[in-house]
Amino acid sequence: MDKIILIGFMGAGKTTLGRILAKRLGIAFVDTDERIEKEQKRAVSDIFAKEGETYFRELETEQLKELLEHEECMVLSVGGGLPVQPQNHELLQKLGTTVYLKADIETLVKRLGRDTKRPLLQGGSVEEKIAGLMQEREPVYEKVADKIVHTDGKSVEEAVTMLQQVCERL
Ligand code: S3P
Repeated sequence: MDKIILIGFMGAGKTTLGRILAKRLGIAFVDTDERIEKEQKRAVSDIFAKEGETYFRELETEQLKELLEHEECMVLSVGGGLPVQPQNHELLQKLGTTVYLKADIETLVKRLGRDTKRPLLQGGSVEEKIAGLMQEREPVYEKVADKIVHTDGKSVEEAVTMLQQVCERL
């Protein structure tokens, strides 16, 4: 089995579903945001506030390069903006199979309405921010993805089961 890379918008369930999926498959779970926060010893929001988004994007690309050196199977959850960076496309392709966890704007607004941790959603209307980013990102997610799993209206259990089925068919 290759690395399974979960992509999708903030709040799509990449970390939650990814963690459960990895456990079921008996492989490691890795999250790029978590690795960055551990290495940098501070929160993503702090990195955005002090160094800005461009610096954070460089850290994300570094993570992909480092993970290419790891041969083990894993479920890898990447931040919502990572697949949007063209320099990451080839790296994602080399790393493994990419699964897009798709959720519609209504679902995302419900999940992210009160978020305080994600810098790109702070201040102003969350719905407008999500809609604006989605317009730019959705075509990229679809282009980068090898598989798409629709999560709208699904419980965590249902979504993980669907995801597992997709992974077992790889
Ligand atoms: C971001 C998504 C976040 C995190 C950062 C930027 C984005 O990760 O990397 O706040 O640009 O969509 P999640 O997708 O895990 O929330």
